Amino acid sequence: MSRARRLRATVAAVAVAVPLSLAVPAAAPATAAPRPPAAEPGEALADDLLVVGHRGASGYRPEHTLASYELAARMGADYIEPDVVSTKDGVLVARHENEISGTTDVAERPEFAARRTTKVIDGTPLTGWFTEDFTLAELRTLRAVERLPEVREENTLYDGLYQVPTLDEVLELRAELTKELRREIGVYVETKHPTYFDSIGLSLEEPLLTDLREARVHKHHSPVFIQSFETTNLRELEEMGVRIPLVQLLSGSGQPYDLTAAGDPRTYADLASAAGLEEIAEYAEGVGPDKNMVIPRNADGTLSTPTALVDDAHRVGLLVHPYTFRNENVFLPPALREGTAPEDYGQALVEHLAFWEAGIDGMFTDNPDTGVVSRELFETGVAAPAA
Ligand code: G3P
Ligand code: CA
Repeated sequence: MSRARRLRATVAAVAVAVPLSLAVPAAAPATAAPRPPAAEPGEALADDLLVVGHRGASGYRPEHTLASYELAARMGADYIEPDVVSTKDGVLVARHENEISGTTDVAERPEFAARRTTKVIDGTPLTGWFTEDFTLAELRTLRAVERLPEVREENTLYDGLYQVPTLDEVLELRAELTKELRREIGVYVETKHPTYFDSIGLSLEEPLLTDLREARVHKHHSPVFIQSFETTNLRELEEMGVRIPLVQLLSGSGQPYDLTAAGDPRTYADLASAAGLEEIAEYAEGVGPDKNMVIPRNADGTLSTPTALVDDAHRVGLLVHPYTFRNENVFLPPALREGTAPEDYGQALVEHLAFWEAGIDGMFTDNPDTGVVSRELFETGVAAPAA
């Protein structure tokens, strides 16, 4: 039996749901709505559909801050999603990249001006400030800022308020919110640039496992997923006997950087093929594909018919959690946009429902409240409102 097929009970125990009545405030507790059973073995692996707060509730707060994670949980997210990188002294902190000029005020800090440098990260030259050049104490003097101020101007209200959190703090917050909200809040951790961090002597996996163990969420049934765009680190975790569910992320183009570094020609498209998914199922419980790999877009801006990815993944026991769902026009298929302003909301619920109907097991979303509503619409068979 593949590793993936053993997961079924885990997610069911952890998650979900809080299918919220549409008329009920987002944080109100509720009972789970029944889901129809899988029609055949392997069709669906988890008993619940997951809403993952992508970088927290990054549609409403600067990403990867405790405020963003907390809001995501209060909005009904089942999991909060920290991406992690390392400081100079080996502490895992939540940032989408190790280069932090886009998400902190580091460029405004004269005391760190000399730290600006150029590095090659995963084969791409990048200029800026890097977490691995800062001790945790130094990094803590910085403050988070909104990554997308043009699209999310409201979020700039919170610029300068929040520190860069450590993974430890995210795990503490998870435990506190689980207690307060009386439902399990999970953590869906992504290791960023693992080959690069290995190359500079700051491997991510060991401190990750230490942090999870110290927070007592290191077991198979713990409310945790570990995800990565690379393959080698996930395989190594599996070989080390780590029982926490693993998720192979799949980009819409290119290849995992660990394969590039090893001279392995396999691409993400190869990994997403039926044969590739069968291999992934040997070490992971799920895949996290770019959502366009599940439902591509037609040339006229409409959503096309779903690819075979969901069925192929389910056939070998893998969960499918695509990324990233966002409410703003600029991120939606052109046919679902409302008006021309990139920052205005379009018909996000229509998009969400198309994906639930395609059989996904969960979604990463910047707008967890919208994700929760869409899941309830799907589970209760209510159509998305017409435009
Ligand atoms: O981890 C799922 C999704 O977050 C992957 O994309 O680039 O936002 O980390 P990214
Ligand atoms: Ca991520």
